[in-house]
Amino acid sequence: MSTVLVTGGAGYIGSHTCVELLGAGYDVVVIDNFANSSPKALEAVEALSGRKVTFLEGDVSDRPTLERLFSRHDFGAVIHFAAFKAVAESMSEPLRYYANNVGSVLNLLEVMQQTGCCNLVFSSSCTVYGNAQVVPIDETAPLEAVNPYGRSKLVSEEIMRDLCAADPRFKVVLLRYFNPVGAHPSGELGEDPRGIPDNLMPYLMQVAVGRRDKLSVFGGDYPTRDGTAIRDYIHVVDLALGHVAALGVLDELEPGCQPFNLGTGTGSTVLELVQAAQRVIGRPIPLEIVGRRDGDSVAVWADPSRANAVLRWRATRNLHDMCRDHWNWQSKHPYGFVDGPPRT
Ligand code: UFG
Repeated sequence: MSTVLVTGGAGYIGSHTCVELLGAGYDVVVIDNFANSSPKALEAVEALSGRKVTFLEGDVSDRPTLERLFSRHDFGAVIHFAAFKAVAESMSEPLRYYANNVGSVLNLLEVMQQTGCCNLVFSSSCTVYGNAQVVPIDETAPLEAVNPYGRSKLVSEEIMRDLCAADPRFKVVLLRYFNPVGAHPSGELGEDPRGIPDNLMPYLMQVAVGRRDKLSVFGGDYPTRDGTAIRDYIHVVDLALGHVAALGVLDELEPGCQPFNLGTGTGSTVLELVQAAQRVIGRPIPLEIVGRRDGDSVAVWADPSRANAVLRWRATRNLHDMCRDHWNWQSKHPYGFVDGPPRT
């Protein structure tokens, strides 16, 4: 299984995964349409790994593009990252989200089935647990979608489960990510959100680097140790290594569809993450505690023991490492992969 197709390989998690795949000896072919990514990420991947990536600019939803790609390469496995991921945007443009996220899954699975390439690692999310009532969350927790983005991931998982039941050649690993943060330790590869960041860490880092005035902390009255919400932040390099681990054990897995939580197993509050970032940055981050954000859960963290046991993978980087590496990237590249002028 030496050649891996990585869809969305120029994106945040995809690009970090490419670095680790290349380092582990896999050949990597990337398809990306740069909808939310930059060609510079692939340049950084090649520079950091010292290896070449075969690249096709294109859309996974486009059948001729995908058929051409599969006719040119003999893929041992596919890692499917390419998707839209903004929750609020998914609520205002649900059809665009379903067409892109579910459409690309259908197209990809059809071409995989036609060509007999039946090993898939899918980029899923802890969002499929909805507003989980019990923490830590293990893979047997009830599944529920609370917005179109989450539903697009849940429907994708269900399509994969149905396909695996119908076609015993398929092995699908569903990796349910908790909250990815951090950057490559070199500071040359990291998250580069377009527009105003939705997520805590990129917003906080843009405040720290002077691009935004202050962080709004959504909710100070949650029933938690400091009143702010709890999440399981995971270093993007640990997450990337989770994909390499999944590929490494694919041969041992029974055919079928298997979910794994990729998280650290430790929850941190918003203020704990802010404090860890302040220690790394060396100065206070201006912030204001405001009302809760609609749809947010109080506390979400993973039970990653299934991934620990079956994938033989474990997150090893702590909150300090996540903040240090994210800050290293953000301070070296205040405007991400764009030199300037600033994006709005
Ligand atoms: N937060 C702030 N201020 C901000 C941004 C976020 O206080 O400017 C808080 C949120 O209220 C939440 C925590 O920081 O308590 C983390 O928020 P993020 O937006 O970073 O992450 P979420 O947990 O809301 O979302 C993540 C993924 C989604 C996924 C969801 C599933 O980003 O893709 O988990 O629960 F759908």
